[in-house]
Amino acid sequence: MTMMLFPMLGNERMTNAIAERIGSAVGKLELRRFPDGESYIRLHSTVAGRAVAVVCTLAHPDDRFLQLLFTARLLRENGARSVHLVAPYLAYLRQDRRFNDGEALTSRQFAQLLSAEFDGLVTVDPHLHRYGNLQEVYSIETEALAASPLLAEWIRDHVEAPLIIGPDSESEQWAGAIAGHIGAPHVVFTKTRRGDRDVLIAASNLSAWKGRTAILVDDVISSGHTLANAAREILEQGFPAPICLAVHGLFASDAEAMLRGLGCRLVTTDSIPHSSNAITLASILGDALAGQFAAIDAKGLRRTPK
Ligand code: R5P
Repeated sequence: MTMMLFPMLGNERMTNAIAERIGSAVGKLELRRFPDGESYIRLHSTVAGRAVAVVCTLAHPDDRFLQLLFTARLLRENGARSVHLVAPYLAYLRQDRRFNDGEALTSRQFAQLLSAEFDGLVTVDPHLHRYGNLQEVYSIETEALAASPLLAEWIRDHVEAPLIIGPDSESEQWAGAIAGHIGAPHVVFTKTRRGDRDVLIAASNLSAWKGRTAILVDDVISSGHTLANAAREILEQGFPAPICLAVHGLFASDAEAMLRGLGCRLVTTDSIPHSSNAITLASILGDALAGQFAAIDAKGLRRTPK
């Protein structure tokens, strides 16, 4: 029996692209809000015995999380053989430590909630800083895909003499991988974070790379201050405004206006729908999901609703 995909609201385009890639059906789910803000969810497709996946990017997770859990339970109650989650952007990974007494370790709590409802998770470049991999917090099958080859391809196709710049030591993993793919030079700045919107960037001397196009690469653009301050450093050294290339463009509050105001060109993957999306993840997500369906099928797994 064929697999079936279900989009949560706003994930229809990505769902259709993945379905086309792996030849699966797209199921019909009715989702709406009652006037008081509660959710109404109704399944219009037959899922009994099928492996199904819900596609839901998890930017702004607090607004969509309950609908996602209700949907997973509904699919399982209706007999789905296994229920997977495709989350092109996976939230709640940055609170990966209790930085102060009494703080919620939301990365772990979020992982526990998702692991209770889904059999498998496929995502792209989750923010793994203090965790080595998702299995440290998730108890289900997880697949963390790397977008760096796709980012590297975009640079190869669009920029003649790139200089890859990571704004902080964490971004070395993306900057180094991308530079390696296309044989370009890369440098990494250092960052001190003093608050959610307060970061200090110490830039290296770029004079050896004059004439190259500076490309700042990072996993996430959230408040935008990391890349904005790195861009200011680049401008100060006499380079034109850089291209800001990120896997996940969250663009909180005025981030986009601030970066565009500096003259930066913004390029992101379509993990979160935004006008800067130029790189599609459907192929890597689809292939990983198909592999996960096959592996879980081979094990004959079927969880029963609690
Ligand atoms: C940091 O750990 C991440 O890799 C990003 O640099 C960070 O999340 C970007 O955040 P913001 O845009 O708020 O500076």
